[in-house]
Amino acid sequence: MAVQSSAIQPSPTAGRHPDFAAQLQQWQARIERELSARLPAVDVQPNRLHAAIRYSVLGGGKRVRPALVYATGAAIGVPESILDGAACAVELIHAYSLVHDDLPAMDNDDLRRGRPTCHKQFDEATAILVGDSLQCLAFELLAEGPGLPADPSVRLKLVRLLAIASGTGGMAGGQALDLAAIGRKLSLAEVEEMHVRKTGALIHACVMMGAACAPQLPENITRALDEYARAIGLAFQIQDDLLDVEGDVAVIGKATGADRALDKPTYPSVAGVEPSRQRMHELHTRALSALARLDAAGLQSAPLAAMSDWLVLRKY
Ligand code: IPE
Ligand code: IPE
Ligand code: MG
Ligand code: MG
Ligand code: MG
Repeated sequence: MAVQSSAIQPSPTAGRHPDFAAQLQQWQARIERELSARLPAVDVQPNRLHAAIRYSVLGGGKRVRPALVYATGAAIGVPESILDGAACAVELIHAYSLVHDDLPAMDNDDLRRGRPTCHKQFDEATAILVGDSLQCLAFELLAEGPGLPADPSVRLKLVRLLAIASGTGGMAGGQALDLAAIGRKLSLAEVEEMHVRKTGALIHACVMMGAACAPQLPENITRALDEYARAIGLAFQIQDDLLDVEGDVAVIGKATGADRALDKPTYPSVAGVEPSRQRMHELHTRALSALARLDAAGLQSAPLAAMSDWLVLRKY
């Protein structure tokens, strides 16, 4: 089977932000470097666990979540140098969620980011420990790592945002709803609830964590960012479901048809492909209209608008 290269690839945009492709590549390169510096070295014991951690985090993935942290910073004037810690922490939680999501007890997938999944390359027990370790490391980085605002109350806020988004009200709870839905019929409202939790919550947290790094941000801007982030979080999982139906394995680097094979209710399986696309575009429009409030306040909506364009137009 043909698979994508594990290298991080440039990504399409609608051209709303003319330099966006270059900007995205810069953020992808930056997060690769920042993550690598924060992960344990392979020559430190336990070597096999550390090798599996580096294998699961580095050298692949679109880096949507760190890019959202940096794009939020670019929109509201926070330098990248104090966003790195938050960007790394969310990507570590995401990487952990993928390693566990692929396990036989969950989605039982063999291919991720164009390579064997962690439990295939290593073993299941190691994959469980990779997830455990990445989750702890994410919070350790927010508690005492570099690349964050100095104010301890900001760090506390970041810990709170990431913990809530990752827990039973967010990603982990959404994954439980996803597993409980296998073989069942869900209403569209139930599918949306599952998607908002399992994927939307962490995407939302990226934007709110970027915003939290600017403690003086006016309330109406925080509200606009919150609305934007909720909309793109749900839109992102709808596109993921659509790519499972219509995507190309060689491009997306993971199996297609996996949701159907597992009899999982998804947006397209419940609403149909075309209505799913329409809902995604409606959410995209809602996200862009929330951003108009940033421009009215003299801030830069372009990086976040370009992110939203990319997330709905992406082919992987
Ligand atoms: C895949 O996320 C899992 C979902 C939450 C839908 P991504 O599409 O962001 O995966 P990577 O990080 O690019 O591999
Ligand atoms: C995953 O959703 C959501 C997570 C929290 C990891 P999926 O199971 O649809 O993600 P993929 O398609 O395997 O990347
Ligand atoms: Mg899953
Ligand atoms: Mg999966
Ligand atoms: Mg999927």
